[in-house]
Amino acid sequence: MKLEYRNNELHCEDVPLSELFLEFGTPLYVYSRSAFLENFRAIDHALHGIEHVTCYALKANSNLHILKALAEEGAGADVVSAGELLLALKAGFSPERIVFAGVGKREDEMELGLKEEIHCFNVESIPELQLLSLVAMRLQKRARVALRINPDIRAGSHPYISTGLNDHKFGIPAAQAAEAFRTAASLPNLEVCGVHVHIGSQITRPEPFAEAADIVASLVRSQRAAGLPITHVDVGGGFGVRYKNALRQEGLPEEDEDSAPPSAPAELIGAMLPVLKDLGCTVWLEPGRAIVADAGLLLTKVLYRKENGAKRFLIVDAGMNDLLRPSLYQAYHQIVPVRLETMERETVDVVGPVCETGDFLARDRVMPRIKQNDVLAVLTAGAYGFVNVSNYNSRLRPAEVLVNGDRVRVIRPRQTLEELVS
Ligand SMILES: Cc1ncc(COP(=O)(O)O)c(C=O)c1O
Repeated sequence: MKLEYRNNELHCEDVPLSELFLEFGTPLYVYSRSAFLENFRAIDHALHGIEHVTCYALKANSNLHILKALAEEGAGADVVSAGELLLALKAGFSPERIVFAGVGKREDEMELGLKEEIHCFNVESIPELQLLSLVAMRLQKRARVALRINPDIRAGSHPYISTGLNDHKFGIPAAQAAEAFRTAASLPNLEVCGVHVHIGSQITRPEPFAEAADIVASLVRSQRAAGLPITHVDVGGGFGVRYKNALRQEGLPEEDEDSAPPSAPAELIGAMLPVLKDLGCTVWLEPGRAIVADAGLLLTKVLYRKENGAKRFLIVDAGMNDLLRPSLYQAYHQIVPVRLETMERETVDVVGPVCETGDFLARDRVMPRIKQNDVLAVLTAGAYGFVNVSNYNSRLRPAEVLVNGDRVRVIRPRQTLEELVS
């Protein structure tokens, strides 16, 4: 994100964040348009010279205005529900650049995908193939299908977001792939066109991607040998981003990093290219996080300072209902003051107002000393942030604004108490 201190005031592109919280209040999601467009372009460029489609995974952030900008930029869409499919169509993604993933598609969702003539369904089990075939017959449509294979690769991310191991619910185990392809080929109204893998999220090293590409390539070859015209490989998303030291600045504490910083998406994609480029298939990607995570932040105000025993707390107005990632999987977000006023340091827990001990944004965090009413920016919050917002504790959903140079647009107004109780 184009995020920097100018005269100790944090700016997103050319807008001082203090202007934003004064005008729109907190908690407030702020996105940089140029940041997510540049992220998309860098990923898309990594495949230049190869026929490909970079689908944006809507689950990371499905704000319609962000979707519209990505659709205009030429992205495809990876959707996992009827809701996401309708949002993608409304945003202007063309159906032939939409793939429908998800381990539990319902019949009505299949119907919608078929009626809208999306590019393909990423199918995750034999019963799903059977149902899709029945629905397609009923509608007199042909369903294009890629089979999601679970390659049993340890991708090294948090257990809740790694998806490519045999004991995870996702995909068809590699050992059953041949049988699943045979079944798919035998069912009416299905057209088997591809192989799909997605090995997890927040993967920071190239090796698991190289391994996954090898598995995909050998499946393409074996299925072609068995007579199936495979023309499409989808290698998923999962490219990791930097959460620690996302912003470096004199006056901000250096954050301890337990591992090397993530490789850039282009490098992660590069690890797959030697194998993918010779397959003669269109390559599909499904990145979410790597496009929007560092293009967004959450502004939150310090309501109170409080000491309980040995602990010092900053109680802020954003809770786990506004940003679930720390509570859900102990995710780390760098948190910085919007006004950098002191070199003094202290160790604090940054906690929300929700009635749960697990409602925290940071624990035992070394930060510049923060006062009551100061505003903090929780960084790298553009992915899996707003999409996980809830009304838990009957709290209001926060607003979202989009910054473009020195211009600001509200892309989702703050929910009101009237709306909540109506
Ligand atoms: C099938 C599939 N594709 C793509 C993604 C996007 O992953 P990421 O945001 O890590 O790029 C996910 C995330 O869960 C997924 O399940």
